[in-house]
Amino acid sequence: MRKPLVAGNWKMNGNAVSINELMGLLVSGVKQAAEGVDVLVCPPAVYLAQVSELARGSAIKVGAQNACQHAAGAYTGEVALPMLAEFDCEYVIIGHSERRALFGEDDALVAEKCAAALAQGITPILCVGESLEQRDAGQALAVVGAQIEAVLTRCGIGAVADMVIAYEPVWAIGTGRTATPAQAQEIHAAIRAQLAEQDAKVAAEVRVLYGGSVTAATAAELFAQPDIDGGLVGGASLKAADFLAICSAAAA
Ligand code: PGA
Repeated sequence: MRKPLVAGNWKMNGNAVSINELMGLLVSGVKQAAEGVDVLVCPPAVYLAQVSELARGSAIKVGAQNACQHAAGAYTGEVALPMLAEFDCEYVIIGHSERRALFGEDDALVAEKCAAALAQGITPILCVGESLEQRDAGQALAVVGAQIEAVLTRCGIGAVADMVIAYEPVWAIGTGRTATPAQAQEIHAAIRAQLAEQDAKVAAEVRVLYGGSVTAATAAELFAQPDIDGGLVGGASLKAADFLAICSAAAA
């Protein structure tokens, strides 16, 4: 049985005061909401220490939004995985479409970062997804398949057992245009089928999240799909009530 995971991707939002407030509400609210679901928040890196401290003793897990593939050295502005580990980071989002599109991360770098996270014992949340042009051109399955393949080639199918995959169609991120449950399920099933070609057990056990304008209103129907194991939530994760409602939907 795959335990659902709901991950909040705060992106580059918040400040010390607003994060205190949000975490206070999440910690008190998650007691009921988190039954049967893993709940994760991914703040900007500079707030990881604060958030880890606030999450201590609660059911809320902490993750990062990105990490460097190198463990240390002359990489100005980067944050290393061993540093994340010091702040109780259990997960790290890798290859988010914003990193791919705005910061030039290609499949090879994304695969390298996944390998580095796994070596550090931090679970990568590998993000994959097609653009609107690619979907309209009928290439969604091929694009996602190639993104997965790059990681399989670098890390091997065995490593996927220690990962989480997030399908995030680029056209659904921050647009208010959620993929329909059927659209999402089709890609999730294809991802699992692709993995099953190499290892049926890994394919059956890996958690595949959906991301892209998930709201409290759309979450339940998405999470009811057989191959959707929770969500990677952006905008709605900044509002405690919405995020907790999404967590409850995943637990139901
Ligand atoms: P969104 O973002 O929920 O605001 O669409 C999701 C994501 O980018 O992870």
